Amino acid sequence: MRDLRHVIVGLLALVASCDQLLAQTNTANDLPAGLSWAYLWNDSVHSQPPDPQPVQIPGSTMQYSVQQARNMFFAANWFPDAHPLMPAVVESGRKPDLRACGGCHRAEGTAGADSASLAGLPAVYIVQQLADFKSGARQSALQSRPPENLMTLAAQVATDEEIQAAAKYFSELKPKPVMRVVESDTAPATTIIRYFYARQGEGKEPLGRRIVELPDDVERYELHDPRATFTAYVPVGSLKKGLAIVQSKANPAMACAVCHGADLHGVGLVPGIAGRSPSYLARQLYAFKIGVRNGAGAALMKPVAERFSEDDIVAVVAYVASLTP
Ligand code: HEC
Ligand code: HEC
Repeated sequence: MRDLRHVIVGLLALVASCDQLLAQTNTANDLPAGLSWAYLWNDSVHSQPPDPQPVQIPGSTMQYSVQQARNMFFAANWFPDAHPLMPAVVESGRKPDLRACGGCHRAEGTAGADSASLAGLPAVYIVQQLADFKSGARQSALQSRPPENLMTLAAQVATDEEIQAAAKYFSELKPKPVMRVVESDTAPATTIIRYFYARQGEGKEPLGRRIVELPDDVERYELHDPRATFTAYVPVGSLKKGLAIVQSKANPAMACAVCHGADLHGVGLVPGIAGRSPSYLARQLYAFKIGVRNGAGAALMKPVAERFSEDDIVAVVAYVASLTP
């Protein structure tokens, strides 16, 4: 009888550890309700028809239309004097599957909530991330989302030369401060346009425990103006809570600055995180936490992110996004 009990207890422990293992290794597509704001997707809504009429934006002598900007084999070159010549892979990509890096990431590497800012990231880090996307070591918690799928496809089909050229280009750009973070109980009333929040009317809506990251001017954002700015509404109290987690006084080895540098601008091969899109940062922390971002460098980040609740992630990314990039 005692033996049988031992066997049953042993079996139960085995089942429990298998469950844990499964939970750790395969939770892709399990979206956490508390972070759904970082994974927006609503295919049915477009902000406007693709207007073919070229327009200008402040400070630029160039003219492009929304229709051109929606072409994914094209990166609008609004401020050609502000950066080196874009390599072909950044400016136009290569048909049929390699969309222009600069279309999604912008000519100045600033991007928005939907992709990732790349300006100033170490070239070797960029090359490693593309290798990780290609091998499947780096995935997203929501594999079905088109922006991430097209990123993975780009990494799969780009040649080594194209990746080197793009990595060199983006690493030499200076990050721009385009993000403003505001603590608030409410956000402007929003609608979801494809992969981003946009203002709808003049009203307000409760923020809850979300972050609402909004382009300040939807048209400039959709014209891929690399200097388009954003406001992120974050819950009241998150900046203070985020600072405490970032400093991690109780466990100094987990302090972000140990690896990401004093101002979180990155050190050596470790990427800078300061002033970047909170939606992007949240997707990454969650991907490390559940083990779907698993590339060569991820081993250092996993113990940090595994401890975070969804609300911790909100606080950390609110604070980190508020810093100067
Ligand atoms: C269709 C849009 C799209 C195109 C084209 C695209 N990307 Fe991306 N890229 C993304 C998205 C979306 C992410 C963020 C994925 C996430 O949130 O997990 C990303 C992430 C990245 C990252 C990770 C950044 C970091 O800080 O770790 C790098 C590096 C990158 N892209 C480089 C490139 C390069 C180089 C090209 C061209 C060869 C390219 N991308 C083309 C959408 C795109
Ligand atoms: C022990 C070193 C270490 C510590 C401590 C650390 N990180 Fe990281 N972090 C890394 C490395 C290395 C990477 C790159 C991972 C990879 O290559 O996939 C990274 C990547 C990241 C990324 C993804 C960046 C990108 O461009 O995609 C975020 C976000 C991040 N860390 C946030 C934090 C925060 C917030 C803290 C503190 C709470 C922190 N990290 C503490 C080493 C560390």
